[in-house]
Amino acid sequence: MEQLEGKGALVTGGASGIGLGIARVLVDAGMRVMIADLRTDHLQRALALFDSLGQGQRVLGRKLDVTDREAFAQTADEAFESLGGVQVLVSNAGVGIAGPLATATFDDWDFGLEVNLGGTVNALCTFLPRMIQQRRGAHIVITSSLSAITPSPRNAAIYATAKAALLAMGEAMRDELADHGIGVSVLLPGPFKTNIREAGRNRPARYRGHSGYEAEEERLATREDAADWSDPLEAGRRVLEAIRANQLYVITHGEYRGWAESKFEAILAAYPVPKDPERARAMGRKRPVKPT
Ligand SMILES: NC(=O)c1ccc[n+]([C@@H]2O[C@H](COP(=O)([O-])OP(=O)(O)OC[C@H]3O[C@@H](n4cnc5c(N)ncnc54)[C@H](O)[C@@H]3O)[C@@H](O)[C@H]2O)c1
Repeated sequence: MEQLEGKGALVTGGASGIGLGIARVLVDAGMRVMIADLRTDHLQRALALFDSLGQGQRVLGRKLDVTDREAFAQTADEAFESLGGVQVLVSNAGVGIAGPLATATFDDWDFGLEVNLGGTVNALCTFLPRMIQQRRGAHIVITSSLSAITPSPRNAAIYATAKAALLAMGEAMRDELADHGIGVSVLLPGPFKTNIREAGRNRPARYRGHSGYEAEEERLATREDAADWSDPLEAGRRVLEAIRANQLYVITHGEYRGWAESKFEAILAAYPVPKDPERARAMGRKRPVKPT
């Protein structure tokens, strides 16, 4: 989608961190943007920032919990109405759920998967039919993580499960949505300076009380950003390029390429020698994923 000026975008989790970085770049590109976020403190700060940049008139803020399907439908109605259509959907809201598998409870799994995976399922079911109906061309961005490809070796099982599912979802959607003139990108960020440490604070009341992750979430809340973690605006710029070029994979940190290489080498080595070499050649010519 080359032409973005004057078009509408909805960014979930758009009031902080990477989502805010994406929203800022889309506004700079001339779009009208609705940021939908769980946290009113984040929304207030983000809207004040856009006001201070003289861009407040092109940004709307809505409180939304992406796990609430009714509220999502209302937000979609408002977004289509007030933005005059939604051509870019960025499903980005997420929580950095982390902790040892040995203490994980059903509540920890449900919290992590409901927000990190279910939030995007809800975004798709709510927005996609409306976006198709517009018949104007559109683009969907899903924020996954490099953990989808190579998870951290400890404490990442719930997070990586959701993020890997989002990567597979984006890959699987691509051809199907191309038939409707809708492009798909999956953002796979490495480390950024954001508020992702506040997973415990974003945990709803229904998932408190029977968690095995309380201690880990308290510890995480005090974690400092490392100096070399990136500025979320960089993620925003990469996403803008990807929307314009309809690029599937958006990878922000080349430093992690070696991890992917060792993983894919191991996967390739696990494939047995094909019993039918002619069929293997034919399958090799059919590329299931078209990344650009
Ligand atoms: N920060 C990183 O290094 C990093 C790396 C890889 C992937 N990511 C992913 O990037 C995305 C954005 O995270 P971030 O790092 O910017 O963190 P962040 O906490 O700064 O921003 C996330 C925003 O999502 C909102 N949110 C949380 N739960 C929500 C819900 N149920 N409904 C609606 N909004 C909700 C939060 O209020 C917050 O404003 C997440 O999907 C995260 O998994 C982040």
